[in-house]
Parts: sequence; C-alpha cells; structure tokens
Amino acid sequence: MDRNLALELVRVTEGAAMAAARLMGRDDKVAADRAAVESMRRSLSFVDMDGVVRIGEGEKDRAPMLPIGERVGNGNPPRVDVAVDPIDGTRLVARGLPGGIATVAVAEEGSLLQTHCAYMEKLVVGPRARGTIDLREPIARNLTRIAEAEGRHVADLTVVVLDRPRHDALLAEIRAAGARVKLITDGDVAGGVMAALPDRSGIDVLAGIGGAPEAVLTACAVKCIGGDMQCRFWPRDPDERRMVEEEGFDPDRVLDLDALCSGRDIFFAATGITDGEMLTGVRYAGHEVRTSSVVMRSYSGTIRWTESVHDLRRLRQRPAVALPPP
Ligand code: FBP
Repeated sequence: MDRNLALELVRVTEGAAMAAARLMGRDDKVAADRAAVESMRRSLSFVDMDGVVRIGEGEKDRAPMLPIGERVGNGNPPRVDVAVDPIDGTRLVARGLPGGIATVAVAEEGSLLQTHCAYMEKLVVGPRARGTIDLREPIARNLTRIAEAEGRHVADLTVVVLDRPRHDALLAEIRAAGARVKLITDGDVAGGVMAALPDRSGIDVLAGIGGAPEAVLTACAVKCIGGDMQCRFWPRDPDERRMVEEEGFDPDRVLDLDALCSGRDIFFAATGITDGEMLTGVRYAGHEVRTSSVVMRSYSGTIRWTESVHDLRRLRQRPAVALPPP
C-alpha cells in the first residue's frame, strides 16, 4: 500500500484524546471511555478503509467499547484488521495521573491475533536486543542476553513493570539480577512502546502480565519500530484456559511478533491524553487545543512524533470529530 494510513489514523487518536481529556480527573472511568469510544467510532467512519475491529478493548472490565467484529472505515479498500484502545490507562485519565493514551493500529486483513483471553505475559525490547529474548527462560537470563546484545551491564538496564501483586516474584528476580525497575500503575501499551524505543525513553525492557488486547496493539508498534516481543496467554482459571484451547491456541505456546501480528504493512498511531513520559497530554487554551502523537508504519519504518494545534471552533463544525461540550 503506497498510502500511509497512519497519517489518517492519527486524526482518530487525536479526536479520542481530546474528547477523553475533557473528562480528566473527574473520577469517572466510564464517561471518559465513552467519550473516547464515541469519538473514535465517528472519526474512523471517515477513514478510507474497509476495516473490522479485531482487537476491541473493554472485554476485561466491561467498559464501553468498539466490539470485536464491528465494521469501521468508510467501506472503501483496503480491507484491514483494526485494533483499538480508545483509552489505555482509563484509571489514569479518570484520576488525572500521567500516561493515559488513545491508540489505534491497522494491519492487513486476517493478520491480528484474536482471543477473548483477558491477559498475556509480555516481554518487549528494542531493535538492538532483537532475537535475544525467550519467555521460557528466567528473566535474569533474558536480561543478561539483552545487556550483552547492547554492550551494557544488566545494572544499566531499566525494566518497566505494571505495579501489581502478581508481579512480586518477577520483581524480586529482576532486582536480584541487578537491573533497575520502573513501576507503572497502568498503561502497558505506552510501556511497551517505550521499551522498544530505549534511546528515546531510557527504558530497555517491558516485562510482566497485562491485557491481551494491549499486547496485540503493542506488537503492531514494536513491529513498526523493529524491536522484539514475546507473549504467552495468562488464563486466570481452568475455564479461561479451556476457552483459549477452544479458540485453537496452545495456551503454553510462546507467541512471537508474527504470531501476534502476521502483517507486513502495519500502521500505528497514539496520542497522549494525560501528560506522560512518551507523549504530552492534551492542552486546552480557549479555542486552541494542542495534542502530541506518535505515528508509525512498518513498511518504511518511519516514526513521526507530531504536535498538532486544533481550533475547537472549527472542529465543532466538522462531523468527523465528536467533542463533549466545554
Ligand atoms: P484500561 O485502560 O483498559 O483499564 O487498561 C489499563 C491497563 O493498565 C493496561 O495498560 C494493561 O494492559 C491492563 O490494564 C492491566 O490489567 P489490570 O489492571 O487488570 O492488571
């Protein structure tokens, strides 16, 4: 495809971020999510593509969502799989904490892994450490190999991990190995993207268990960047494990980047909602709104960091953007 769809998708994430950011800190996750979902649904319908949502967030916590199977785009070619997370870090946005983003990825039809399993174990690294990771091995062994590939010491590495009790043992192992740890309360898509961009972020690895939809979205970005990622299903109980088997997967199999996203032409866009390390959040000043985004495409490997200035008065007259009242 000659067209860079990501440049159109960024308008979708900008709109969702502007809608959700209006509700920052109101302690209302559902309202913020709804605003982002509605904006995304509306603006996606203006994108020249015939898409089906394969990864729709909201399964795990029954939040408002763009459900799996929903058709998006204006129906013109290309036929594509779509992954959406109108807000990754809903709690962050509801509480006005750093790191909430709006994100979308698009890839060739049939190329995104689909599961109803809520969680996956994840390991993400940047391009220099590509080919060194193996989820079947202890994290300490992985860290040694990553450090070797980068010509650094394990003590130089920073590992980002979601701050959850389920990670106590993992954290103990990382600390015993001597690496630095950065805990995040939410938002492991941004965590994974930052791990794939160590020179920019200072973060070298994402490790631990997080949402499965977020894993596929992250994989799209990691593929664009040229980093590496492995995942494994993390069923919470025997029923969920059986469901994964019924979906046709071996729950114990390690999934590599191609298993998560087999596409060759992948587009990823994300916009900051609240201020974060990766992206600045939405800034409102009268009629002017500023957004900060990242846009990527696997075919060319181009990564664009964009700052946009929007004029609310004009945006309100346009059908492609759904903004909540001021
Ligand atoms: P939501 O915005 O959908 O709540 O997801 C936030 C998030 O932190 C994800 O980034 C992460 O993958 C997942 O939740 C972790 O799940 P849990 O909070 O249940 O540990």
